[in-house]
Amino acid sequence: MARLSSCIGYFFVFVILQSFRASASSSARKTASGALFIFGDSSVDVGNNNYITTIPENQADVKPYGQNGFFEGPTGRFSDGRVIVDYIADYANLPLIPPFLQPSADHTHGANFASAGGGVLPETNQGLVIDLPTQLKNFEEVQKSLTEKLGEAQATELISEAVYFISIGSNDYLGGYLGNPKMQETYIPEVYVGMVIGNLTNAIQALYERGARKFAFLSLCPLGCLPVLRAMNPKASESGCFEAGSSLALAHNNALKAILTSLEYILKGFKYCNSNFYNWLDDRIKNPSKYGFKDGVNACCGSGPYGGLLTCGGNKKVTEFQLCNNADEHVWWDSFHPTERIHEQFAKALWNGSPFSVGPYNLEDLFFNKEKLTIADIVDAPDGEHFQ
Ligand SMILES: *[C@@H]1O[C@H](CO)[C@@H](O)[C@H](O)[C@H]1NC(C)=O
Repeated sequence: MARLSSCIGYFFVFVILQSFRASASSSARKTASGALFIFGDSSVDVGNNNYITTIPENQADVKPYGQNGFFEGPTGRFSDGRVIVDYIADYANLPLIPPFLQPSADHTHGANFASAGGGVLPETNQGLVIDLPTQLKNFEEVQKSLTEKLGEAQATELISEAVYFISIGSNDYLGGYLGNPKMQETYIPEVYVGMVIGNLTNAIQALYERGARKFAFLSLCPLGCLPVLRAMNPKASESGCFEAGSSLALAHNNALKAILTSLEYILKGFKYCNSNFYNWLDDRIKNPSKYGFKDGVNACCGSGPYGGLLTCGGNKKVTEFQLCNNADEHVWWDSFHPTERIHEQFAKALWNGSPFSVGPYNLEDLFFNKEKLTIADIVDAPDGEHFQ
């Protein structure tokens, strides 16, 4: 009985908090203010690489990229349609955020600096991508032009109210380390992860010093289960994934989590949203039907075992490729990248995920300046996913 009544008590606290959150968000929603700045790699590139000189593997400017009809044709997104930041802009009542390099784009709601193939370290795919330090320089340029356009006070407010979405690191471990024997001879994995995280921390602090306060991170997925690594797996493990790839991703995610926790103490006003993308995607790879997919292993577009050869589009060395009938049934779109459907499901999870899976803030909290809910606030696990 005592237990039951305390449950009812918690239930009321929960209802009150939820309705408080709902009213806070509906009043905030009326104004489409705010901005979204995006840094990263092909997971969030929306076309910057269309404007740089690089190899076809780093560009998604041919069909069937973008085939699902949301956009008129290929846009540079490594997806059959949209990518996660397109959904996030939509949920935040913002327009689609344009690539930084798109001529005469309007940056009053943000800019996307991401570049497919890009890494945290300048050595990663050097000369073929816009690396993170350069993405930061490009941000400074946008900040300058916003200050000229809006005036100092308004630009400062825009910068501090904006959300900074960072999705980067996979290429440092794939091409930058596993594909680079020299790096592997020079650095043991722990030291290499430390370098990536050290440089990422510097980037976060550089943005903070320029006025950024609200950050969101897309942690790394089980890299060893990318169709490309599954296909190259020399000794098939039980899962069929390339364990060295997944271990690096796990080490990176753990180090990132620890750094973010300490930055929250060190940097006044620093708020962030992080989550466990590793477990979230791993669950869909292993149990696709639980989430409405039929295939969690094979790429929809590609060739060879698991569709693991990056041939999608037919503009690379190997011009033959296969395309599945329904990309919505697949977790993987091509040998490196998930389908639009995965992007959408993860965008939703980050947007309003509970403190059990996303935190300390979810994206809705960050955009609409709401208080964070803690696990203690809601006590009982609500329905939904718990992938932390
Ligand atoms: C950043 O990366 C470079 C290699 O590009 C490395 O030498 C340096 O130690 C790293 N910095 C930090 C703070 O880890």
